[in-house]
Amino acid sequence: MIKKTLNVNGIDRVLIIDQESLLSDVLRKQLQLTGTKVGCGTGQCGACSVIVDGKLVRSCVTKMKRIPDLAKITTIEGIGSPLNLHPIQKAFIKNGAIQCGFCTPGFVVSTKLLLEQNPHPTREEVRDWFQKHRNACRCTGYLMIVDAVMDAAKGLLAISSG
Ligand code: FES
Ligand code: FES
Repeated sequence: MIKKTLNVNGIDRVLIIDQESLLSDVLRKQLQLTGTKVGCGTGQCGACSVIVDGKLVRSCVTKMKRIPDLAKITTIEGIGSPLNLHPIQKAFIKNGAIQCGFCTPGFVVSTKLLLEQNPHPTREEVRDWFQKHRNACRCTGYLMIVDAVMDAAKGLLAISSG
């Protein structure tokens, strides 16, 4: 066990961790951040995606030894809250891009990074991003998710220019 400090959603958290443990377990069990979902547990579905130092990471297959001390981690809890939804979350709701909702935290986290890196993506770029990062949804058929991302991009643009 070693001591590691992680900046999680803007707050420094000092943790005693096993370097072999999974980031998803540390987030969900040690930090009680259960918004990060674990579906496949094998890196195939993207439900467990979080942002670590500006990169999208599938936390179910990421051991703590690969997370550097003082890493900056963003989970779904750091993006919006039930009383203060992020524009991406509002766009997902408005477009019906949520059915069972299990994949949604991973898609929202993934969309956050996509729009930071590419504020005006084409529909094709959105699809490519989700494919590259293995975000999978069994319910919606993706059309409404892509609609939501396009809408979110417009909303964020309005916020940044307004
Ligand atoms: S739960 Fe991590 S990729 Fe599926
Ligand atoms: S909404 Fe059910 S898996 Fe995506």
